[in-house]
Amino acid sequence: MTTSTSTSAASDRGSAPAPTASGRVGVIQRYREFLPVTDATPVISLAEGSTPLIHAAALSRLVGRDCRVYVKFEGLNPTGSFKDRGMTMALSKAVESGARAVICASTGNTSAAAAAYAARAGIECVVLLPAGKIALGKLAQALVHGARVVAIDGNFDDALRLVRELGQRPDCAIVNSINPYRIEGQKTAAFEIIEELGDAPDAHFIPVGNAGNITAYWKGYREFHALGRSRTLPRMTGFQAAGSAPIYHGEVVTAPDTVATAIRIGNPASWREAGQAVHDSGGVIDIVTDEQILAAQRWLASHEGVFVEPASAAPIAGLMKCIEAAGAGRFCKGCPLPQLAEGSTIVCTVTGHGLKDADVILKGGFEPLQAPAAAAAVAERLGW
Ligand code: F0G
Repeated sequence: MTTSTSTSAASDRGSAPAPTASGRVGVIQRYREFLPVTDATPVISLAEGSTPLIHAAALSRLVGRDCRVYVKFEGLNPTGSFKDRGMTMALSKAVESGARAVICASTGNTSAAAAAYAARAGIECVVLLPAGKIALGKLAQALVHGARVVAIDGNFDDALRLVRELGQRPDCAIVNSINPYRIEGQKTAAFEIIEELGDAPDAHFIPVGNAGNITAYWKGYREFHALGRSRTLPRMTGFQAAGSAPIYHGEVVTAPDTVATAIRIGNPASWREAGQAVHDSGGVIDIVTDEQILAAQRWLASHEGVFVEPASAAPIAGLMKCIEAAGAGRFCKGCPLPQLAEGSTIVCTVTGHGLKDADVILKGGFEPLQAPAAAAAVAERLGW
């Protein structure tokens, strides 16, 4: 009897069993009929997807007017971000086509997911990252999964340019969201939301970086709508960081900058598609400052118990910006709130787990109280 790390790729073909003993399935098995897979597609899965849609009671109260706000907590995917949904598709199709290596540019999460799924498939993974601009947890993930990581002296946009070139090698697949299978996998999050709510939400708030995810959600919403699985379509409302807002400003940002390193992108690959999604859905792309992002991150963690990374707090910051503006009798440019009737439903996708970037919290002025190891001393510190 032999054991091999690469047997999982070969044995999970077609409708093979779920990768967990509990029978929990990944997105390819859950939504097989809506995805470009066949019995010849080996399913490389970590039981991703099926993430919770959490009712955010405190946030709902802030919006008022009997509106319900939910957060789709994508940080609960196997590698801690939404990228797993797209990566199960990209790696499965790469292995099906005979690829021996995958390559990607990344601000961190794509590389963590690519490295994990490539490890599971038993193929090589090469990652190009902007040096010094990756959250530590994400870098650790890519390295521990065995990816060959190259930190380049440039930003994400430079890295993606190099990947487009290097990925032309035979037997190599590019697994950035310019790979259409990534978008296919990621659209399943919209399917889950419709199934859970019984319809599409009235507005969907989402962070925007390379713009693949807003494109994927809109595709998912449209597909289920066309199939009669939802009655409505949401207004797609995307948020970029103020220092990295090419779509908002309508021009490439050559030196993007933000504390939300995941969305530190100046020339998004799916720019046109994101623009289309916003236009067709009656939504908008707006901006939030780093201060608003960090405040929203803390607020969500301390009021709803949901800890997300800075980029993921952008839509929460965006919603708060809309609420504040509306409270002051103003409205943000294209804000969906004025158009939402009483009792509307808003879903915010929070894309990555806060633990990936714990540094940003610890550098942000949080620190424990200090006390000697005696109950009286601890009580004194606590003011008990
Ligand atoms: N949120 C997080 C946590 C991300 O990692 C990303 C993108 C986004 C939002 C934006 O999604 O690019 O589809 O608009 N991260 C990519 C990466 C760029 O390399 O991990 P998008």
